[in-house]
Amino acid sequence: MPTTTARDRPRHLLDLAALPAARIDALLCRAQQFAEGAQAPAALAGVAVCTLFFEPSTRTRLSFQLAAQRLGAHVLNFDASTASTTKGETDLDTFRTLQAMGVRGFVVRHKADGAVAALAAAAQPGVAVLNAGDGRSHHPTQGLLDMLTLRQAKGEDFSRLKVVIVGDVKHSRVARSDLHALRALGCGEIRVCGPAALLPDDDTLAGCAVSHDLDTALDGVDAVMMLRLQRERMAEGLVASLDDYHRAYGLTEARLRRAAPGAIVMHPGPMNRGVEITDAVADGPQSRVLVQVANGVAVRMAVLEALLG
Ligand code: CP
Repeated sequence: MPTTTARDRPRHLLDLAALPAARIDALLCRAQQFAEGAQAPAALAGVAVCTLFFEPSTRTRLSFQLAAQRLGAHVLNFDASTASTTKGETDLDTFRTLQAMGVRGFVVRHKADGAVAALAAAAQPGVAVLNAGDGRSHHPTQGLLDMLTLRQAKGEDFSRLKVVIVGDVKHSRVARSDLHALRALGCGEIRVCGPAALLPDDDTLAGCAVSHDLDTALDGVDAVMMLRLQRERMAEGLVASLDDYHRAYGLTEARLRRAAPGAIVMHPGPMNRGVEITDAVADGPQSRVLVQVANGVAVRMAVLEALLG
């Protein structure tokens, strides 16, 4: 009878919904150590990690690459524009091909919901698949880095925190992962604000205070999590114009004054400056946008170490 060791068991990070609060907390504590300069240059020595992105990315792909390099891994970058997928090779055959080469860590982004989980189901023992964003479903490391950024600014006890997520929640995997993490960590009040056409009508927003008025939604919050307006929503008729959207849901300095003193502003990037956020807010003293980027490297080191170290 074949035996399965702890090392052989598939250990993936596909979403935050299944991750208990204690596990999230442990990853955030380790990420905080990396953010403060802890080193683990041999943690992934000899391990091959591939960033397998079927969708564009700047922050996620490069911070995963940097994180894996800092842990001593061999890092391969799959470029969909020059790969044999352009000749019709399927995503699964691509995955199996890389697995046969000895890749043990796959960091995968895909436009289709569930596509990363489908590849994980084909993983051999000892291979880890990390979801770097699938469709509108999950972006777990973004959720973790956002929680780390919140903790650094507001402390570990989220029970008194008021957080508002603003914008296109309906199509946002970032928002879904943030909502899972905020609930798991016991956030006191979660507000969600956006036009009705851009808010989900399923149970995604269970327990959230939903509003279509940004001024009201900002009152007294400790953190504002802005989302990128995906421009194709205009073509779909969900948003009348970028100017209209900015007037109703753009975060300006004047609006931000409604938040609690010391409130922080977050945005996963890439930002549409002048649409969902003004330059003055994006580059202002309350912005944590670049802290989020820096935390992305630390969080991804913690996750890679936990799954492959
Ligand atoms: N936040 C985020 O996922 O950014 P990228 O698309 O640049 O990776």
